[in-house]
Amino acid sequence: MAKTYRLKLGQSAIHGRGLFAAERIPAGAWIIEYTGQKVSLAEGRRRDKFYNSIGYTLLFKLDTHYVDGLVGGNEAIYINHSLTPNADAIMHRGGVWIRALCDIARGEELTYDYGFDPANPPGAKRRGGKRKKPA
Ligand SMILES: C[S@@+](CC[C@H](N)C(=O)[O-])C[C@H]1O[C@@H](n2cnc3c(N)ncnc32)[C@H](O)[C@@H]1O
Repeated sequence: MAKTYRLKLGQSAIHGRGLFAAERIPAGAWIIEYTGQKVSLAEGRRRDKFYNSIGYTLLFKLDTHYVDGLVGGNEAIYINHSLTPNADAIMHRGGVWIRALCDIARGEELTYDYGFDPANPPGAKRRGGKRKKPA
């Protein structure tokens, strides 16, 4: 079974609450799955418009469906965006997983690049509002 890592929610210097490493996480580790309700592309587009209207993104767009972290999701929804992230979000075992890009120290906030349109960064109205399609 894959090793699990202790994580904790806390106040973020980036935005609102964030998710932090409660122990050292080595580079390459699968940290947490981004879980949520799987919805069709059409339903995902509908929800995307709503989330955009409130300036909040919780959706991952995959080839065949969206994953909505607000419904049945876990603490992974609290991971904030950074252009210099310490993790990334990629397809793994049929789901979206957050993986460490480098050694992450205990107490460090987890981040990944949401893949926002650079002209419309987080906190502003964004085109699509979707996170980067996992590689
Ligand atoms: C799923 S939430 C992440 C958790 C959020 N910090 C909270 O307290 O609920 C995603 C939202 O957090 C905000 N966010 C995440 N990263 C950000 C950043 N680097 N700069 C500004 N806002 C950010 C944006 O509003 C984004 O839509």
